[in-house]
Amino acid sequence: MKEGWFIEERCFNPATAKAFEGLFTLGSGYLHVRGSLEEHLRDAPQNETYTRLPANVTSEKFRETRAKWGTYVPGIFGPHPLLNSEMINLPWFLGLELSVAGEKLDAEHSRIPAYRRTLDLETAVLRRELTWQTAAGPTISVIFERFVSGARPHLCLQRLTLRSDRSTEITIRGGIDADVRTNGYDHFRETRLSPTDPAGVRCMVQTDGGDEVFIETRLIGAADWRPEGESRRWALVGELCLHPDQPLLLEKRTAVSTSRDPAVLTPAHYLDEAAAASFDTLHAEHAEHWRNRWRSCDVRVEGDPESQLALRASLYHLLRAHVADDPRVAIDAKGFAGEAYWGRFFWDTEMYLLPFFLYTDPARARTLVDFRVQSLAGAKANAQRYGYAGARYAWESDAHGVECCPNWQYADHEVHVTADVAYGLAHYAAAAGGEEYLRGPAAAVLVETGRYWLERLDWRPGDPRPHLLGVMGPDEYTPISNDNSYTNRLVAFALHLAATHGEAAGATADEQRRFCGAAEGLPIPRHSDPTLVLQCEGFDLLAEPAFDRLWIDRTRTFAAQVSQERLYRSKCLKQADVLMLMALFPHEFTDEEVRCAWDYYLPYTTHDSSLSAGIHAIVAARLRLKDEAWRFWNASKMIDLDTAHGGAAEGIHIAGAAANWQVAIFGFAGVRTALQAQRLTIEPLLPDGWSRLAFPIRWKGQGAFVEITPDAVVITNHSSSPLEVTVFATPDSVPPASSRAWPSPAIRGVIFDLDGVLCATDESHYLAWKKLADEEGIAFDRRVNERLKGVGRMDSLDIILEKATRRYTPEEKAALAERKNDTYRQCLQAMTPADLLPGAEAVLHGLRQRGIKLAVGSSSRNAPLILERLGLGSFFDAVADGNDIRRSKPDPEVFLLAAERLGLRPRECLVVEDAAAGVEAARRAGMACFAVGEAAGLPTVRYRAASLAAIQIEELLAARL
Ligand code: G6P
Ligand code: MG
Repeated sequence: MKEGWFIEERCFNPATAKAFEGLFTLGSGYLHVRGSLEEHLRDAPQNETYTRLPANVTSEKFRETRAKWGTYVPGIFGPHPLLNSEMINLPWFLGLELSVAGEKLDAEHSRIPAYRRTLDLETAVLRRELTWQTAAGPTISVIFERFVSGARPHLCLQRLTLRSDRSTEITIRGGIDADVRTNGYDHFRETRLSPTDPAGVRCMVQTDGGDEVFIETRLIGAADWRPEGESRRWALVGELCLHPDQPLLLEKRTAVSTSRDPAVLTPAHYLDEAAAASFDTLHAEHAEHWRNRWRSCDVRVEGDPESQLALRASLYHLLRAHVADDPRVAIDAKGFAGEAYWGRFFWDTEMYLLPFFLYTDPARARTLVDFRVQSLAGAKANAQRYGYAGARYAWESDAHGVECCPNWQYADHEVHVTADVAYGLAHYAAAAGGEEYLRGPAAAVLVETGRYWLERLDWRPGDPRPHLLGVMGPDEYTPISNDNSYTNRLVAFALHLAATHGEAAGATADEQRRFCGAAEGLPIPRHSDPTLVLQCEGFDLLAEPAFDRLWIDRTRTFAAQVSQERLYRSKCLKQADVLMLMALFPHEFTDEEVRCAWDYYLPYTTHDSSLSAGIHAIVAARLRLKDEAWRFWNASKMIDLDTAHGGAAEGIHIAGAAANWQVAIFGFAGVRTALQAQRLTIEPLLPDGWSRLAFPIRWKGQGAFVEITPDAVVITNHSSSPLEVTVFATPDSVPPASSRAWPSPAIRGVIFDLDGVLCATDESHYLAWKKLADEEGIAFDRRVNERLKGVGRMDSLDIILEKATRRYTPEEKAALAERKNDTYRQCLQAMTPADLLPGAEAVLHGLRQRGIKLAVGSSSRNAPLILERLGLGSFFDAVADGNDIRRSKPDPEVFLLAAERLGLRPRECLVVEDAAAGVEAARRAGMACFAVGEAAGLPTVRYRAASLAAIQIEELLAARL
């Protein structure tokens, strides 16, 4: 078995049956079937009628059914009285029931000593092997195989292989069951089934959406088949003889066609066309089709089999779900593998799914953007319904672009989707289609959505800037907010496009001016500390979410445990919002702003949305927060694979699957999108344990292959012209049809903490604080002192005062700090160069000899004095100390400043630290760190030594993040 390609179900467990059904969905783009068991389960009726009410899906409790059949043809929608249009679940044709002497094979109740089901991701084949000990005596080995042909997308092939240890009769029953519902609702106006010759069953259903769906199934195997059935279910039943050591093979071939096919052919046509080909031949062409598709996109991860498999599972479903050459549909929110989101199309299309296709298979990306172009009429109808000019794309779109979302909060307010659509069009143009696309097919969308925005904007008296009031950003827990940053930025982007390309679709010069003016005026709200981008106006004034008290069970969503009203009035976030904005427009925000947003929003973020973790991983990678990137990657990658917690039970989290690809490519490989960079950019941050990350990429018409190891980046240019790249922040180029390698940047600068690393002033600090604490009658010991190391003076005082029996005014505190500093400075008077700690001189000179830049990064305001006393007054290439910074360690500011002053990037710097706060500051700065002294005992540090005297220079320089 090829490693890294198989998802396995090792034993049958009814509790995870539905999750595996979703995860094991097969499909050809055109046709999709959930991975339901051929023999089905007892007590799992699929024809129950019930009413699913419109709800917040995050907190919705799905109907508890033991199994959920799903047969989907993208684009087959029907009306639902409460839920508007929804994708229709079509008749089920996978059924194959086996019985011996009246006993039915039943995964749950039969004696099955061996069971294994595997989905081969490489060739998209589902295979189940089991041993069935029948009550009547014979032990039968059963193998079910199935695939939906990639090469013949209308065809589903099944093969059953049986072996018995003794002769026995076995009854096999297989047909079509059209007595199915969609979310409990019956969409079939008319259902016609009948047996056929050759042995099979034919089915036609007329949907309430006006489509006709044709299904024909044939059983191929030596038996006298007799038809059996009732109005909505027909099957063939046959008795077959099993002899020991003589395998019995049976095939079930099914074809599906619909009246909405571009060329409507009967299923019999597809079956007849394949009739002469054996199962193995059909399998071989199908496998070849899939291998070809993998060639354009497979992401290889070496050293981490779990991540490898998770990525492949994601890519498999992305490959499966895309409908080739059909812009009348996009990819629905559950990847045509369940009904949780009614088969509708969301902003997922542009912001999550599109990039995967853009950079691996641009022709398929084209149908996704064309989907919005061809559904413009629906978007115009939406705008009109809301009383606006232009076009307003649906939060939940059906195939015609019509708003189907039954929840007013999202439908009315989550308007960013209309700008996301424009962003997607521009992304396609930048990555593959060229500007012609924006001036051609997309122009009308840009102008019509621009016209909508002009009317949707609000103007406040006395304020020259436009505003977008009453919107919901990606964070759906802040429902009706003003000037959501994400929305405003995306709308500005869309308006710029309309201004630039609108003429092609009839925008007047005046309109273009207005588009442009509005784009320029839309504000990005900021906090009184302007480094913090606010999610929306007044976000900082919302209530604290009180997670400690209210979010009891962290394995379940926050939304499932509190009232919606609490979600809406507090600062809790469902998912990345400002961070998502920063991920899309990385150049518009400094690292400091991104870090500030990260620190501010993360504690408020519930990640209730499956879309949250992936974006967080990407932003963490930008900040070189390796641990956080890894943590969020793990959360994101497991969403569908986590069968124990429901996983894909209600369908594949297809946008999450696409986010997984984005984490690997935009996160760990550090690729910038075509909207963010002209050149193919690689800025890797490989997780520990990943020895290689390799992937093909299509970059603006050129094909390339990227390989990243801890030591180097190698890019192979498959095209016939030079490939312009930026690797490790250095512009370069790869000649046609050749490879180039860039070694990972070495450490070029070392930033030393001062107290406790270069000199023993940490002891003087202790004595000075101790004197003060004693005088004030405050308990203070060396354990508390550990917390002060690396921490600035006033913060240190606050830690000491935690034990005080009274409160101190700011003036008193300033006086205390002054007193401590006086004592401390007296100690410093006696300092000489001899106080440099052992080993320091050798390390400093050794590094300098090797051309390494040297800096000090200390929270101390006394650093200049100390350096002077140590005779190092002008020794260092840069000094950043307590006088330069606003926030002391563990904030990374001081190290980032030191690096900047050295003219180096964080990845080129190494920190030497003796304090926990300093080690954390280095980590948050994205810098490698070598711990000495007390910090060497911390479990989290990777490189450690007792003191500088115990460090070899080469060992120091080999340290990596
Ligand atoms: C260093 C020391 C801390 C000290 C801080 C501020 O980081 O490790 O213990 O509190 O500097 O020092 P200062 O000299 O400004 O009081
Ligand atoms: Mg220190």
